[in-house]
Parts: sequence; C-alpha cells; structure tokens
Amino acid sequence: MKVLVVGSGAREHALVWKCVQSELVERVYCAPGNGGTGGMARNIAIGAADVVRIVDFAKREKLGLIVLGPEAAVDAGVGDALRHAGFNVFGPDRGAGQIETSKSFAKDLMRRAGIPTADYEAFTQPAPAKSWAREREGKVAVKADGLARGKGVIVCGTVAESDSAIDAMLVQERFGRSGKKIVVEERLEGPELSLLAVTDGTDVVPLAPARDYKRALDGDRGANTGGMGAYSPPIGVDDAVVKEVVDRVIQPAVNELAASGNEFRGVLYAGLMLTADGVRAIEFNARFGDPEAQVVLPRLQSDFVTLALAASRGGLAAHPDLRWSDKACVGVVVASGNYPDDAAMTLGHKIRGLAEIPRGALIFHAGTRFVPGSGLVTDGGRVVTSVALGDTVAQARETALAAARQVRFEGAYFRSDIAQEAE
Ligand code: AMP
Ligand code: GLY
Repeated sequence: MKVLVVGSGAREHALVWKCVQSELVERVYCAPGNGGTGGMARNIAIGAADVVRIVDFAKREKLGLIVLGPEAAVDAGVGDALRHAGFNVFGPDRGAGQIETSKSFAKDLMRRAGIPTADYEAFTQPAPAKSWAREREGKVAVKADGLARGKGVIVCGTVAESDSAIDAMLVQERFGRSGKKIVVEERLEGPELSLLAVTDGTDVVPLAPARDYKRALDGDRGANTGGMGAYSPPIGVDDAVVKEVVDRVIQPAVNELAASGNEFRGVLYAGLMLTADGVRAIEFNARFGDPEAQVVLPRLQSDFVTLALAASRGGLAAHPDLRWSDKACVGVVVASGNYPDDAAMTLGHKIRGLAEIPRGALIFHAGTRFVPGSGLVTDGGRVVTSVALGDTVAQARETALAAARQVRFEGAYFRSDIAQEAE
C-alpha cells in the first residue's frame, strides 16, 4: 500500500524511516517533508495543514494509510476530512485533538475523568488570575490556553514572576490569540516523563516511555523549546509506573473523550511529572512527541504500519503484543543558533559533515532543505536529531553525541547532558 506521513520534522523523518521498513508498504510519501525524508520517501509540496490538497492527493494516489505528524494537521481538521472520505487515518479528528489544542479543554476533561493533575483555574481577566497565584505565593505555572509550539508556559516561583507572566499573556498579549485565555495551575516538582500510547478510541497500547529535555541549555537552563533531546527508557521508570500511567491517566482520558463524542484514534501523548505524591498529568498531546518519536520508534521492533492500521480502523485489542529492543536510545537535537528565538535565528546555512556520521548513529532531519547545486542547508530551529541505540545509556549517548558533533553549520548548538542522569 501507499502511505503518507504528514509533517516536516525529525519526528516525521523517524515515522517515514519506520514505515519504509514495513513489508506492507510499496511507497511512502511525506507532505511537505524535509531534506532527509526526500532521501527515503517522496516529498510532496503540500503543507501539513492544507486539508483540501491532502484529501485530493489521498484520492488520487489511493492511499492505504495517512499518519498525522504535527498538531497543526490535527487542528486544521485533516483527520476529519480524510476519515469522512473513507481513508485510514492515524491521528485524531479536530474535536478529540482539543485535548492538546486547548489547555482548558484538557484540564476540564482531567477533572471529569478523575485524572491526577495540578490544581488549576482558567482566567480571561488578570486581577482574579493574580490573586489565585498570590494565594499560592506565586508558585504556579501560567499557560496560554491555545497552541504556542511548546513555548506558552511560564513556570513561576514568586508573586512578582506570576504577576508579570499573567500580564504578559492577558495584557500584553505576547502569545497573541493563544494567550487571551490562560490556565493558572499549582507548580509541581519532580522528574518528568513522556508516555505515548496508541489507541483506537477504546483500547490502549503503551509505547516505550521516554524523557524529553525542554530547556535550551545544559543543566535545564535557558528558554523552553519544543524539545532539545530525549532518551528511552528513562531511569526510574519501570513497568509498574507505565501501568499506573495507563490505568490512571491514559485509559481514563481515552474513555472520557469517547464518552463526550470525541473518539480518539492515533497516538495520545501524556506529559507527566513523578511527584512525591505520585504521578500527575501535566499535559496531553494528540500526536507523537518530537523528539520522543525519534528515540521510541528505533526501539520498536514490531511493524508500525500494522499497528497504525489497527488503531485507525479499530481492532487494537486483537493486535499482537509489541516487541521492543532492550537497548537504550538517546537523541540529541542539533539546533540553529539563537533557537528558540525565531526573530534572532538565521537560516540557509550550509550543513556539513553528514557523510562522516559514526556507524550506528541515525540522523533524523527536521529543519533541512535540499537546494540543487549547494546541497543541504538549514531551514528551521531544530535542524536534525542525532540518535543512537546502545547496550547501555552511556554507549547510546556517546554515539549520539559523536554524531551530533559531526553535523556542522554556522551557529549549530546542542545539549551535551541529554540522558547523562542515567549513566
Ligand atoms: P506543557 O506545555 O503544559 O507541557 O508545559 C511545558 C513544561 O512546563 C512542562 O514540560 C514542565 O516542565 C513545565 N510545567 C508545566 N506545568 C507545570 C506545573 N504545573 N508545575 C511545574 N512545571 C510545569
Ligand atoms: N517534546 C514535546 C512535544 O513534542 O510536545
């Protein structure tokens, strides 16, 4: 069959790479793709949120499966339109996608389903928001309600910080429309965990757990980003933790979505914090994480296309247990200088060194573009994810870092402490 992966990041490159390995697949397309997906699939010049042209393409090519990568595709209603036209779609409809696209939708759903999460309130006016934060001595997280590409959260420690975060969103409207409504919630402490699970709207199959590093700089300093690296499995996360998250967070969310008429088919991502009082859900995403996908998919030994078809058609209960590699996987994002400050980044720099990548490393492209005559150039904030499997986390990390050092372009930077905690 023919498969289309929608999106253009390293997550989509990893999905393409996995789909290409499937015996069920004769051809893989990526829309719009990047400089890496173009080497193993056919890039199609259609934007990830271009509903009409994606549906036309699916009809023309008689696609057997469409995999939605980014939230922008979900939020544009690509899933709704394709499903309406009779296609197998791995990715939810827009309604179910609100679990990611609206923080207040997600928090209300968690409250109804009894999912453990931080205490919270939604606000559109600064004064009541500030007094709610003041009652908690400013130890709160202030969040833009809508999509802000992982950057719409300000974690505060003092009243001065919470006041200024609330003003930034509600008064200065620094997050535009996304921040006209905010959620303020109690600040939690503890290591974070990403657990992604495949669901057909009824049954849930957890994928291997991962830990994402959201801050730009070593030691968790610097700005919040979309994710600067990840590894799997994270230290301290055993099968019992995974089971607890499925039973207390993911399955109740899937059930509550279905009960409210928003059946979810695809991958539901729970961002969690392991607090002293137990597991707490921080957020949901309606898609694979990036860079979590890049470290989870290489550990998956089962066929991804079979799994995605079972989820998109219904019938996940009959799917055989997933097989996983015992190896650890580490992914290091190599980013453009000044990322995540879009205004200060410069793009179009020539990328060198990809021919000298050490054996055993995988380079998943994100912000890369192939320019005939000059080769690969940078085309986004996160440029590639350098990924390696290893018998130990230390081995995987060493190879992933060695490969990251080889990827050279003006202004390149990466974190050197991804997964270091597990050594
Ligand atoms: P979110 O976009 O909701 O995942 O938040 C982004 C990041 O902000 C999370 O990964 C956490 O590191 C941090 N964060 C979000 N909510 C809280 C909270 N209630 N307490 C502490 N940190 C938080
Ligand atoms: N790595 C976080 C995300 O994909 O949202």
